[in-house]
Amino acid sequence: MAYTLSKPKDFLPATLDKAAKKLLQALANEAAKVSNEVEWKTFRDHWMARKDGVLSSLNDLWLKAAPKDAKRQVGQRVNELKAVVEQTVEQAKQRAESSSRSSRLEGERVDITLPGIQRPIGAEHPIVKTTNEMVAVFRDLGYSVEEGPEIETDYYNFEALNFPPNHPARDTQDTLFLAQQQAKPLREQLLLRTHTSPVQIRSMATKKPPIRIVIPGRVYRKDPPDASHSPMFHQIEGLAVDTNITFGDLKGTLDYAMKAFFGSNVKTSFRPSFFPFTEPSAELLVSCFLCGGRGTHGSDPCRPCKQTGWIEILGCGMVDPNVFQFVKHNGYDPEKVSGFAFGMGADRIALLKYGVEDLQLFFQNDVRFLRQFA
Ligand code: PHE
Repeated sequence: MAYTLSKPKDFLPATLDKAAKKLLQALANEAAKVSNEVEWKTFRDHWMARKDGVLSSLNDLWLKAAPKDAKRQVGQRVNELKAVVEQTVEQAKQRAESSSRSSRLEGERVDITLPGIQRPIGAEHPIVKTTNEMVAVFRDLGYSVEEGPEIETDYYNFEALNFPPNHPARDTQDTLFLAQQQAKPLREQLLLRTHTSPVQIRSMATKKPPIRIVIPGRVYRKDPPDASHSPMFHQIEGLAVDTNITFGDLKGTLDYAMKAFFGSNVKTSFRPSFFPFTEPSAELLVSCFLCGGRGTHGSDPCRPCKQTGWIEILGCGMVDPNVFQFVKHNGYDPEKVSGFAFGMGADRIALLKYGVEDLQLFFQNDVRFLRQFA
C-alpha cells in the first residue's frame, strides 16, 4: 500500500516529529524498491506530482492547515522534508539509470564459448586457380608475368606473328572483328584477340632481351558454345628469348613444368605441328594423368585421353626469325638471339584436372558447382 499523508491531529512539535519520521520511513522504503526507470517515474509522481503528490499534500495538510502561531515552525519542517524528498528522488533516478544500463550491457555480453558466425568468403574460380598454379610454376623458374589488351589490332594479333595476309584465321569465320573497321588499313583494324601470342610482340617491343615471361589472359574465337568450346576462353602463353636458346631448352623447360604441375610421374612427348610464328613447331602431350597412360580404367575406356594414354596440352616452338624482324630495333636480331614460345588453354587443363564434363559449367557461375572447387 503506497504511503498517504494524513492530517495531523495537532501541530505540536512531538506530533509533527512522529509524522515526519513516518513519512521519511515510507520515503526510504519506496526509494529502495526502485530498480528501473519505469518504477522511478511512479515513485517520483507519488511524491512530487503537482496535483496529488505527497509534497503537495504536505503543503495543504500541514502548512496551509497550521494555525498562525505554528506556521513558522511547520513551514521550516515542510521545507526540510521537501529537500529530503527531492534529494531522494534524484538519487533514485541515478540508481535506476545505471542499473538499466548495466542490464543492457548484461544482454550484450559476449559469450566466447558460442561457435562463431561463419561468413561465406569467396574462392578462386577453378580456371583462375588453374591459371595461378601454372603461372606459379613458371614464376619459380624466373619468368615474370605480362598482360595485354583483349581488344587487339590485326598487326599484333596476326601480322607481326607472321600470319600471311590471307591466312584463314584472319577470316571473319574464325575471328571476332569489331564493327566499322573496314575504312582503316588492315593492320590497324581492331579485333578480339584470338590468342595471347600478341603479347609476345608487345613485350619484345618494350623489353630488351633476355626475356622470360608468362602471359595469362582471356581470348576469343567465333566458336559456338558446346561441351568443349566457348567463344571466350583462357590461355597461358610463355616466351623465353636469350642468346643460344635451343629446342633442348624448350623440351627441358616444358618437361619440368608439366611434372611440377601434373605430378612427377607424368611423361611428356612432342609431336611436329605448325604455327606461323614458330619454326619448328610442336604439340606437347603429357601421359594421361587420369589413367596413368594405360588408356583404360580396368575394363573401362579412359575418355579424356580417348584411350591413347596421352593428352595434348599445348602448342610450342622456336620463335620464327620472321617474328624477330618486327622487334629487331629493340635488340632482337635473329642472327644474335633465339627463343621458344608456348601457349596452352587454361580451361581445357582445368576441365581435365577436375574431371568436369562440360566446359559451359565453368561459365554459368552456379555457386553450387563452383563451391566444389573452393
Ligand atoms: N597461339 C597458339 C594458339 O593459340 C599457341 C602457341 C603459342 C603456339 C606459342 C606456339 C607458340 O593455338
